[in-house]
Amino acid sequence: MAGPNKQIAVSGIQASGNLHIGNYIGAIKQFVELQDKYKMFVFVADLHAITVPQDPEKLQAQTLDAVYTYLACGLDPEKTTIFIQSHVPQHTELGWILNTITPLGELERMTQFKDKAKIDKNSLFDLEQLIRLENAKYKAIERSEGSIKEIKEIKIDITTTLSEILEELKNRGRTTAGLLNYPTLMAADILLYNPDAVPVGEDQLQHLEFARMVARKFNTRFGETFKEPKALIQKEGARIMGLDDPIKKMSKSATSANNYIGILDSEEEIRRKIKIAVTDSGKEIKFYPKTKPAISNLLIIFSQMADIPVPGLEKKYAGKTYAEFKSDLADALVVALSPIQIKYKALTKDSESVLKILRNGADRARDAAALTMHAVRQKVGLLAH
Ligand code: TRP
Repeated sequence: MAGPNKQIAVSGIQASGNLHIGNYIGAIKQFVELQDKYKMFVFVADLHAITVPQDPEKLQAQTLDAVYTYLACGLDPEKTTIFIQSHVPQHTELGWILNTITPLGELERMTQFKDKAKIDKNSLFDLEQLIRLENAKYKAIERSEGSIKEIKEIKIDITTTLSEILEELKNRGRTTAGLLNYPTLMAADILLYNPDAVPVGEDQLQHLEFARMVARKFNTRFGETFKEPKALIQKEGARIMGLDDPIKKMSKSATSANNYIGILDSEEEIRRKIKIAVTDSGKEIKFYPKTKPAISNLLIIFSQMADIPVPGLEKKYAGKTYAEFKSDLADALVVALSPIQIKYKALTKDSESVLKILRNGADRARDAAALTMHAVRQKVGLLAH
């Protein structure tokens, strides 16, 4: 176990099946490296997973699968507290309390919420624009009774704005409160353990900033309680891009499985996917993210999987072809992933031990969380039980 003086780090992953090398490089690998330095809490965010419609059986399988993957990648239950979010009821308890001090506007402006709820146009806030247009229309009528054209044009603008607002209202009605309150639960996940650091992917920075804001609000209102943790973002590899489209993030929900290399992909699959991965024009193997996004992405993947700095790779492949580079990259992936896959297989055959790890982890997490909740309940004024 970690010593008492170690700093604390917390992170969660939303298990949605088929974890890929983007997850490995951007998150899991970092967790494994951090577990000697920090006292770590790592959990599978199953309560976050249900903010979008889920298949219950699949959710169970994916939750367990994420744990197998984490353990196979080297997360060590002796060093890190590994657990399932929903096994520690304090997450929802603190989440609720944080909801009561969170302005609705802060939740509504979250990028992930707007994306998922499909209300990214901000058109509800176009009401002012609508009023301006209406005024312009009447002025136009007053001024130039004859100019039908001008009035018609304004009317088209009004109709467009109105239909955008209508669409947004409809989507808003369909959206769930769970999706909206995703960030308060995440803030609770973090603040419960009073961490110094939260290793997250770049896309979660806004949520972390939100957690810091809620911590400040709580402290201001009820007295110093929570630390404001800092984000730990990996400089390189925080964002691995799709193999078939290096402009977009690698994603398990991509339309084609050629977009990603799954941690459990077979050797043949890995070789095939690397072979057909998109490359850039020219033939130099150089890290130029702007002009050579595809090759730069492959360089980062290579660098991270083989632990060779990018400049070293550039030197090694100076004057070599894309094909040679790709063939070696596929080798490096196979070498890095096969021990993980062997360990994964062994773990799935020993699910009893894994469940025991999770029970242990939940026990430890609940102990830590109970301490925080004791203080929080008192500060908020909830009667002791
Ligand atoms: N929202 C995170 C993601 O999608 C997962 C997550 C949930 C998380 N709770 C967290 C990450 C707390 C860090 C800390 O990746």
